[in-house]
Amino acid sequence: MGSLANKRILLGVTGGIAAYKSADLVRRLQDAGASVRVAMTPAAMEFITPLTLQALSGNPVHTDLLDTGAEAAMGHIELARWADLLVVAPATADFMAKLVAGEADNLLLAVCLATAAPIALAPAMNQGMWRKDSTTDNLDCLRKRGFYILGPADGSQACGDIGPGRMLEPLAIVEALEPLFSTAILAGKKVVITAGPTREAIDPVRYISNHSSGKMGYALAIAAAEAGADTWLISGPTNLQPPERVTLIRVTSARDMLEATLAAITDCQLFIGSAAVADYRPKCYVDQKIKKDDSAMLLELERNPDIIATVANLPQRPLTVGFAAETSDLAAHARKKLDAKKLDAVIANDVSRSDIGFNSDNNQVLLVDREGTEELPLMGKSQLARLLISKLAGKL
Ligand code: PMT
Repeated sequence: MGSLANKRILLGVTGGIAAYKSADLVRRLQDAGASVRVAMTPAAMEFITPLTLQALSGNPVHTDLLDTGAEAAMGHIELARWADLLVVAPATADFMAKLVAGEADNLLLAVCLATAAPIALAPAMNQGMWRKDSTTDNLDCLRKRGFYILGPADGSQACGDIGPGRMLEPLAIVEALEPLFSTAILAGKKVVITAGPTREAIDPVRYISNHSSGKMGYALAIAAAEAGADTWLISGPTNLQPPERVTLIRVTSARDMLEATLAAITDCQLFIGSAAVADYRPKCYVDQKIKKDDSAMLLELERNPDIIATVANLPQRPLTVGFAAETSDLAAHARKKLDAKKLDAVIANDVSRSDIGFNSDNNQVLLVDREGTEELPLMGKSQLARLLISKLAGKL
């Protein structure tokens, strides 16, 4: 059982087409061991009936703030106290605006206002609504107030549009909720993680880089922060949102990354190099755009510093863990890197596969250290990150 086992979760459903997924979410939360109650806004009942959610959750569904009978059975304050966690999925733009304003004119809003439990929101709306400044401002405000925002995902929408605003799938929501209850296995520890690609400039408009999205490193930073660590994330250029409770330092080149890493490494107990650092950079940077002509362009490259090897050679080194991006013989290459870079562990992934590694939401790795090699199954990067963090915490 994961960290949702025996937790009391109040699922709030608001009025969006994604409400049909809430029925499945009830089941997925129960599968994770949680006890689930459901509260619906009046608009939600236009999309899915309380009867469906009652049958699935095994509990009466809470819909009405002004129903004396329902309030007598379990009133909104009792409900607010009962929940270990509130999850609003889908959370419409309108509902989030009302949360920002502190409104409480329906049962779910009143519970949100009254509860001391953490609240997670899984936004769902049309991509145009999602991109509006008012929505962005409301989300920023909710994040600052400590709400957890899960998603949304990108893709085709019920209205025919394509873009961000799809509610995360129920399983992804459950996966994102689990860390909220994780134990403080890294409390009092400082963890530094590198993530993403580096860019090595050729001229003001061109650079050498690679396919790293930063997803793996960001997932590790989120997992380390959830585990209570003072977490520092040194990130090359990515399109990812800054993780909450993480000190994010943005860098561009390998040399910037080395400098930021060395500045952050003091008093650090665990360093994880998940960045895809460019091994080479152009020997000469040309400060004007290079004009093309008919001849071939020759680019002379020189070696970049090795960040993780530098950390591993520090007199007071942290537990130093590298990733290995391989396309064949994972275990053998990982073990060579373990020795050559004097690492404590190497996490090897096959970057020739399109379903894992670079830019994918999933990964499958070998964990190689001096004691042996452990093959971990294919899973989401967030889930893998939590597993790796718990294993590495055990080595500290
Ligand atoms: O970012 P994503 O899209 O989620 O993809 C994740 C990932 C595939 C980038 C990640 O899982 C991964 O494999 N990261 C390591 C990529 C890499 O550079 O591997 P490598 O085998 O070339 O390097 C071995 C180790 O040395 C790595 O820890 C790397 O960070 C480090 N290194 C490499 C070169 C260098 N100059 N300095 C370094 O510190």
